[in-house]
Amino acid sequence: MNLYRITLIAAGVALLAGASALAQNGATPAAAPTTVWDGVFTDAQAERGSAIYLSECSPCHGASPDLPRFDAKPLSELYSFIRTRMPDGMPGSLSAAQYSDVVAYLLRSSGLPAGATELPTTSSAMTGITFNLTK
Ligand code: HEC
Repeated sequence: MNLYRITLIAAGVALLAGASALAQNGATPAAAPTTVWDGVFTDAQAERGSAIYLSECSPCHGASPDLPRFDAKPLSELYSFIRTRMPDGMPGSLSAAQYSDVVAYLLRSSGLPAGATELPTTSSAMTGITFNLTK
């Protein structure tokens, strides 16, 4: 084995190592799962939701509807339920943004932290957020 071949092999090994490091770095790290504990709504949004909740929801639900049945599920389930079923007898009577404001308010009332970004206004955008009542 001459020096040329050794150099070639060494270069090959270095190349392989580099490629595998690249593959590891290049593979987008699986986005950390988002939960409602990551600050998925803003305070201003929850504030708007509070006014809507007071006029549209509290007459039937008082301080808060029961939320445990949505626990540990994608937030889209809570949002879709409210948007397609509530207010009882007048489902879909609020705008998509108003429904998401109400959900932001429900999250804040459940003791969840506000963040810098508003909750989106479509159910599909909420499928990646898990609704965990406890951390
Ligand atoms: C006219 C009365 C009425 C109004 C107004 C109303 N709801 Fe409801 N809501 C109900 C009833 C009745 C149920 C139970 C129906 C069911 O579980 O299918 C319910 C169920 C719910 C639930 C599921 C948890 C539970 O208690 O079973 C949520 C969450 C909810 N409502 C949120 C809202 C929100 C948010 C609003 C305002 C946008 C709203 N509701 C307005 C009557 C109402």
